[in-house]
Amino acid sequence: MARYEPHDKFYRKAREQGLPSRAAFKLEELIARFRLVRPGARVADLGCAPGGWLAVLAGAVGPHGRVVGVDLAVARAPWPNVIALAGDIRDPATREAVVRELGGAADLVTSDLSPKLTGIVDRDHALSFELLMIALDFARVVIRPGGMMVAKLFMGGDFPVIIAAFARAFGKVEVARTRASRPGSSELYLVARDFRGPAAG
Ligand SMILES: C[S@@+](CC[C@H](N)C(=O)[O-])C[C@H]1O[C@@H](n2cnc3c(N)ncnc32)[C@H](O)[C@@H]1O
Repeated sequence: MARYEPHDKFYRKAREQGLPSRAAFKLEELIARFRLVRPGARVADLGCAPGGWLAVLAGAVGPHGRVVGVDLAVARAPWPNVIALAGDIRDPATREAVVRELGGAADLVTSDLSPKLTGIVDRDHALSFELLMIALDFARVVIRPGGMMVAKLFMGGDFPVIIAAFARAFGKVEVARTRASRPGSSELYLVARDFRGPAAG
């Protein structure tokens, strides 16, 4: 069985680089592997606290890009091209605020949303599924045709339903594991490219 090491190399690397979490390395890996971001891009980051992904995205989009993060918790965003909103993504007013702050269609939506886990497997899967579907619905409203989405996914019985929903909205859907995920973790990332446009699906 994989051993849980709270202070493994990614944890130490995050501390050394002053990053708020090891999560940053997962997105770095995905950006490098799938060429997800170009300078000047507009990105919405769902479930952004404490801000590891925001740090990576701030650098990737550069000074002419725009990143809008949102989370139930307050996240620091000490970069001029990034804003972090506090709110519940299930609340339409929060989603409208993200759209407003983006100021135009997103090239990429990233979602690292995770519910507060209860330890009850069925309940945790249902909560994760609900958040993922809300993230997809939101992405369908804000992403430009041809745009991309990356979303955290927990392996469970809903897997085929999730893949089918993403495949209706995007031309290409892949599932990736990152080296920076904790050993033994069932965490996966969906990488969806070539958004078909709001009318699809
Ligand atoms: C794994 S953390 C994200 C880590 C982040 N990507 C980073 O790099 O620092 C998952 C986040 O999802 C947020 N979250 C869960 N449910 C949410 C909701 N309904 N609306 C907004 N954020 C939510 C949690 O508050 C938590 O901060």
